[in-house]
Amino acid sequence: MIKKGIILSGGMGTRMSPLTKAVNKQLLPIYDKPLIFYPLSILMLANIRDILIIVNKGQLGQYKKIIPNGKNLGIKINYIEQSSPRGLPDAFILGENFIKKDNVSLILGDNFFYGQNLTQKLVNCTKLKRGAKVLLHKVSKPELYGVAKVNNSNKIMKIIEKPKKYFSDLAITGLYFFDNKVVDYSKELKPSKRGELEITDLLNKYKKNKKLSADYIGRGGAWLDTGSIEDFYKTSSFVSAIENRQGFKIACLEEISFLKRWIGKKEIRDQIKFYGKCEYSKYLEKIIS
Ligand code: TTP
Repeated sequence: MIKKGIILSGGMGTRMSPLTKAVNKQLLPIYDKPLIFYPLSILMLANIRDILIIVNKGQLGQYKKIIPNGKNLGIKINYIEQSSPRGLPDAFILGENFIKKDNVSLILGDNFFYGQNLTQKLVNCTKLKRGAKVLLHKVSKPELYGVAKVNNSNKIMKIIEKPKKYFSDLAITGLYFFDNKVVDYSKELKPSKRGELEITDLLNKYKKNKKLSADYIGRGGAWLDTGSIEDFYKTSSFVSAIENRQGFKIACLEEISFLKRWIGKKEIRDQIKFYGKCEYSKYLEKIIS
């Protein structure tokens, strides 16, 4: 079982400037909570409780204001700063001391996942022992994403980053599961033309050894990448529509933890005090009443 997870929550957020000039993208709101809550909730749903959050230099204080530690969430939170956005595989170089001899999952701090059977799927992915696994999702504009072609036994045959010519409509989402080789593989990578370590190069190392497999979010599920302002607001509307219609919250961290019995009523009461008088606290009160 994979028990460790990394959230890559730094980045420049260039596409969302000036919003991201003073505040990191993952601290901005998706409807009623900061973006970081959503990828964190995904790791928690996958029963991953030992979590490393990578933030960019200068933002650690801000992050600790909203998630000071994992105690009241029933999880362990570690932070580490990334001096500049060197690329996604940098997570495994920075995270080496956190990962140690274990397998690990990675989620991008700006990725949003939601849908039926998602939890079951996530838990299944954590069973990975050797190799790497990615989650794919069908998209209408494959030219904007890293895209994969898969064979009958769900092994990935080919990956192309932002393909100019159509070859598959299965985008590689920002949630990955790796065996322990990921640390050494990442250290072997050389920066690309744009000066970053590329996730595609890392995945290709697994693919070469026929160790890269795929799972699917499926058509009942949603995957939204909140990189641009337009996508950010679309995701906010999605969350607002679901929460207001159904009366439950997406990515309420305390609720997930309480239902898993990682925390009890006391921790929820502490969190209510911590957040103060707000809608989110009212929701927490409902959970324990
Ligand atoms: P990107 O979309 O590559 O970068 P960004 O979100 O900063 O946006 P922009 O392109 O507008 O500048 O990154 C995807 C996610 O990964 C995002 O949540 C930031 C995070 N990230 C890091 O934390 N460190 C890195 O080195 C990189 C490349 C990304």
